Amino acid sequence: MRHAGRIVLITGAGNGMGEACAQRFVREGAAGLVLNDLDAEAAARVADELRGGGAKVEVVGGSAADRAVAKQMVRTADQAFGRIDSLICCAGGGGQGEPLQPLIGEDPRDFLNVGDEAWQGGMMTNLMTAVVPGQEVARYMVERGIAGAIVNISSVQAVLGVGNSGPYGPGKAAVSNLTKGMAVSLGPHGIRVNAIGPGPTATRMLLEGIRRNPASGREMLSRTPLGRWAEADEMAAPICFLASDEASFITGQTLYVDGGRLALNFVLPVRSNEAPVGRAAIKSA
Ligand SMILES: NC(=O)c1ccc[n+]([C@@H]2O[C@H](COP(=O)([O-])OP(=O)(O)OC[C@H]3O[C@@H](n4cnc5c(N)ncnc54)[C@H](O)[C@@H]3O)[C@@H](O)[C@H]2O)c1
Repeated sequence: MRHAGRIVLITGAGNGMGEACAQRFVREGAAGLVLNDLDAEAAARVADELRGGGAKVEVVGGSAADRAVAKQMVRTADQAFGRIDSLICCAGGGGQGEPLQPLIGEDPRDFLNVGDEAWQGGMMTNLMTAVVPGQEVARYMVERGIAGAIVNISSVQAVLGVGNSGPYGPGKAAVSNLTKGMAVSLGPHGIRVNAIGPGPTATRMLLEGIRRNPASGREMLSRTPLGRWAEADEMAAPICFLASDEASFITGQTLYVDGGRLALNFVLPVRSNEAPVGRAAIKSA
């Protein structure tokens, strides 16, 4: 019961990792949850299920990147429970599951084809869904002297170059960097800020992407040493750990929970008796 008696705010809690976090924090003893999702009905469904088991759960619908929504989450937690111990920012997306409008060419997500609006939208969705609730909750914690914890969701794409991920990878790189900046700013107040960087996880976001492009599923598995997708709860578990006292000296980190994806390197067969092929060799060929 690592979160016994604690109050936890979770964005993107209507599906996938956010839903799994809500279930896990309740299992780990949380005394109250505030669930947010753009899809308010989805968050309400998760809340109803948890209330059925006796949990105390409030819901705030709307975009987590909307200042008024983030303020409402904090107000709701304060009025219903009187404190906030942790914020888990699962809202985000725009990975393979969501199509972009094609400008030219066949792959709308290729670097060459992504338009300004899509760049700004994708970057801002992922960055601001962490910035806005992060600021509101951190201000609340600082004012009340609460040494709480914040966990953001980055991605393996924060560090991998993916030519057709459009704004998703850059947006997640921004989340990982933001996590460091928040940790440095909030460390003196005793507030810890970390992120997880998931590999492929069998949530709506991933499954929808594979339905549209089955080859992308095979490609992802071929680059995942454990050879399978993660379950959403396999992300909720390290999130709960990072938010718990067991991680009391961990801050500013992105923990990649990726089935070995980032450990993977490719070794090309070396053709002996051939000169190494470099730029000059290619030119003279
Ligand atoms: N599934 C994966 O393979 C994978 C891999 C790496 C990172 N991620 C990240 O994990 C996080 C959770 O994704 P998931 O896989 O659980 O997807 P999901 O689609 O199952 O759930 C995401 C939830 O966030 C909500 N949401 C989206 N934008 C929102 C906003 N602005 N405000 C409030 N709610 C919003 C959606 O309505 C949805 O309920 C996302 O940040 C995603 O980018 C997912």
